[in-house]
Amino acid sequence: MSRVDHCVDTFVLVSGIVKNSAATIPISVVSGHMEADGIERDNLESQQRKDDPADEWFPESVAADYDLPGGANAPDVIEPVVELLSGLAGNGPVLEFAVGTGRIAAPLAARGVEVKGIELSRAMAPRVVEKPGGNAVDVAIGDMTTTRVAGEFSLVYLVFNTISNLTTQDEQVAAFCNASAHLRPGGFFLIEDGLPDLRRLPPGQNTVPFSVLPGREGGGYVGFDQYDVVTQRFTSNHVSVSADGSGSFRRIPFRFAWPAEMDLMARIAGMKLKHRWSGWDRSELTEESTSHVSVWVKSGSTLR
Ligand SMILES: C[S@@+](CC[C@H](N)C(=O)[O-])C[C@H]1O[C@@H](n2cnc3c(N)ncnc32)[C@H](O)[C@@H]1O
Repeated sequence: MSRVDHCVDTFVLVSGIVKNSAATIPISVVSGHMEADGIERDNLESQQRKDDPADEWFPESVAADYDLPGGANAPDVIEPVVELLSGLAGNGPVLEFAVGTGRIAAPLAARGVEVKGIELSRAMAPRVVEKPGGNAVDVAIGDMTTTRVAGEFSLVYLVFNTISNLTTQDEQVAAFCNASAHLRPGGFFLIEDGLPDLRRLPPGQNTVPFSVLPGREGGGYVGFDQYDVVTQRFTSNHVSVSADGSGSFRRIPFRFAWPAEMDLMARIAGMKLKHRWSGWDRSELTEESTSHVSVWVKSGSTLR
């Protein structure tokens, strides 16, 4: 899915890290091959011991590597995002749900846009201020489905597939409602999300592999998604095996929602579709698209 294609498109092999929207998986990569690295593994294990379960999927051991250069942190990836958001922001202020380490919020603030954020992870949030522009970003620790921050916003945005981190329809609807509650009339809610990879599911199977990387000295990495098309839940699975045979298995839960379902969530929350693209370049969404960027406008009337 998004996580799969996302992984294929933006899987970043940087400084020994495989990174996707939901997690950062430590491995060593040399010229496209993985190598077992006992020292890195020891570091990771000691970091993981410090992880606070309240930070859920983005504890210290993930946050520590989230801002490594390249991939989703590359300037040519961030620039079009900030460009489009600042165009929608008008005079602001704007609010980012799940602001993370400020990958997008900080450069947006550096352009002079007033930015606030909501973030669940106490490991991710403090890193916002480390970036240029980040000092100006006010971050509230909390859940984006329920946390309210003061103010009325011209734009609320939720990027990098993070709506899928909410694993029930109720939670996703709550995020739409909370976004709408923060918007002034005529304000925008923007979501960037991957599209589920269901077209790659053969009949009778529920698993779509997205990466197999053999290590040069043995071991390797295998990534695959497992779909439950009834509940729309899926997991991204990351198996890393070192040359000595030791390894790790990370399994991260998500829920996919088609754009049409999101349109209904938006209507429930008093918004209607304004724009839909397949990416930040505003290209058309087609049946081959692997992601979408959708913008709803707060209209005031609701379905309820
Ligand atoms: C993939 S990261 C995206 C961070 C940032 N928006 C970016 O684009 O780099 C997902 C973030 O969502 C946060 N998150 C997940 N569920 C959340 C929730 N219910 N409320 C607030 N933040 C949440 C995680 O802690 C993590 O920082």
